[in-house]
Amino acid sequence: MRVLMVAPPGAGKGTQGAVIAEHFHLHRVTIGELLRRHVADGTELGRRVRPLVERGELVPDDIVLDLMREGLLEARALGGGYVLDGVPRTVAQALAAYRVAHAIGMTADVALHLSADDEELVGRLLKRAGIEHRADDNEAVIRQRLRLYREVTEPVLAYYARRGILLTVDAMRPVEVVSAEVLAALEARAG
Ligand code: AP5
Repeated sequence: MRVLMVAPPGAGKGTQGAVIAEHFHLHRVTIGELLRRHVADGTELGRRVRPLVERGELVPDDIVLDLMREGLLEARALGGGYVLDGVPRTVAQALAAYRVAHAIGMTADVALHLSADDEELVGRLLKRAGIEHRADDNEAVIRQRLRLYREVTEPVLAYYARRGILLTVDAMRPVEVVSAEVLAALEARAG
């Protein structure tokens, strides 16, 4: 199974991605985490993306697509399944990601969309801010990430609907309830 996740900040891409990966034994490719690791390690790439990530802006496509391609090649070497968290963020990125994945025989077969309201998401991320101290978890940047999601990421849903691989789950419920519905829906598709 090859799953990509499209969801606003705080909807549970990381949380549900981990559950899916464990349940189906899939390789996880988490673009935001890879970027944050580069920033923490002070690599050249990390220095380039740091101001963008800290302001809640998008990192250039070439960087993201290289990280994605590396992750999908790892997934291919490990058996072929994956959960991709973070790509795509724009329609142009969705099309480019398709081309990159197609070239290595690793296109997604499910686009999992977790839906949730902005005020719930702001609340979740402010709560996380008190625990994890992510540089982009302050109210102004959270709202900027949400604005960007609504403007440029949400339109990718129509693209996956047209490809016939869109699966939408209501993520406004407790984590366990969302997980159960996600796993049941993915089992049904796999079955
Ligand atoms: P990224 O790391 O992908 O951040 P994000 O999209 O803002 O998403 P989050 O990680 O904040 O939330 P999530 O949906 O994973 O939710 P989580 O499970 O953690 O990207 C960071 C930055 O990197 C971007 O802003 C951009 O700069 C750059 N970037 C990344 N990908 C890019 C790309 N493709 N192109 C260009 N730039 C890119 O949950 C959040 C919190 O809520 C947790 O505390 C969790 O415990 C809680 N929670 C989860 N589910 C529930 C629930 N059902 N009920 C209650 N609480 C819940």
